[in-house]
Amino acid sequence: MKNYYLDWHKMIERAVDSWGKVSVSFKPRAIAITGMGGSGCVGDYVEALASSREGFGSPIIVVKSSSLPKYVAGSDLVFAVSYSGDTIETIMAFGEALRRGARVVAITSGGMLEECSKIRGVPVVKVSEGLVPRAALPEMLIGILGVLDSMNLTLASRDEVVELAQFIGERSLDAVNEAKALANFIYESSSNLVIATHTPLEVIAVRGKNELNENAKILVKVEVAPEWAHNDIVGWENPFTRNWAAITIADPGNILGARLVEFMESIYVKSGVKVHKLLLKGSNLLEKLIYGSLVLGLASVELAELRGLNPLETKGIALYKKFLREIAEEKPC
Ligand code: PA5
Repeated sequence: MKNYYLDWHKMIERAVDSWGKVSVSFKPRAIAITGMGGSGCVGDYVEALASSREGFGSPIIVVKSSSLPKYVAGSDLVFAVSYSGDTIETIMAFGEALRRGARVVAITSGGMLEECSKIRGVPVVKVSEGLVPRAALPEMLIGILGVLDSMNLTLASRDEVVELAQFIGERSLDAVNEAKALANFIYESSSNLVIATHTPLEVIAVRGKNELNENAKILVKVEVAPEWAHNDIVGWENPFTRNWAAITIADPGNILGARLVEFMESIYVKSGVKVHKLLLKGSNLLEKLIYGSLVLGLASVELAELRGLNPLETKGIALYKKFLREIAEEKPC
């Protein structure tokens, strides 16, 4: 599975080749991005990029559910993202978007989402087959960035994505080394794990949590400053157990954020928690987000290996999907 991550620069190049193949001419009031798990987090990345972009025209609504917020309507654009194309919640939200008259674009490698899209005349950004959803993050994300660029809602230009591929290719070895150190730290701690960061990096912490859940089969808590300083910080005064370790993530280019993370570290240390720090590399937010995600993805696979577990196998998700198929009533298209 490690190779899926180590090939991210090639995946980004592939996505650049498809840039502009799906274009939409429409000025949406808002953009909803719906998906679950490894596909659902794609919306978080778009939201983080849009929030940091001055003058970006449409608010981003991230939906990790089978139902869209009631206010999503015909004047909105909905991206339905499902790597497999067979995730019931995403198919249901896709059907709901069409019923409300919203413009819809699907991002998938196939499955029911591709079939339904063909039937309903919905454009599809087709991503590479044969991966696991969480490892296809860059291709799904760049698929959306390409469509947005075609609408003059640019969060990254084609040239910036070309530079991203080069940057990730050049930094792969750094990422591997950082990931090994991180995995060893978590393995040796053998305790509850916190991933702590500052805004606007919450997306990396959540993605890292998901990767460690799915690939390494451990539980993880996410803490994000400054909100952390208004609740979690008090929890650290008297927890039931001090058997915790913390990974902190900071953007060295964000002076306030980096200082907040240093403050978080001082509280963890005072609480008897061991800390391992990850400083993000990259010259813009997109590069930093993808670099951080690569390190955490590789670390989660490395940790699975240290624990003798198969990172590809997600029994719990399969069990849930079977259960949902039995209880879901909706026929999507
Ligand atoms: O990464 C994974 O395997 C999961 O988190 C899936 O992404 C999640 O179960 C949803 O499936 P899909 O991405 O195929 O819609």
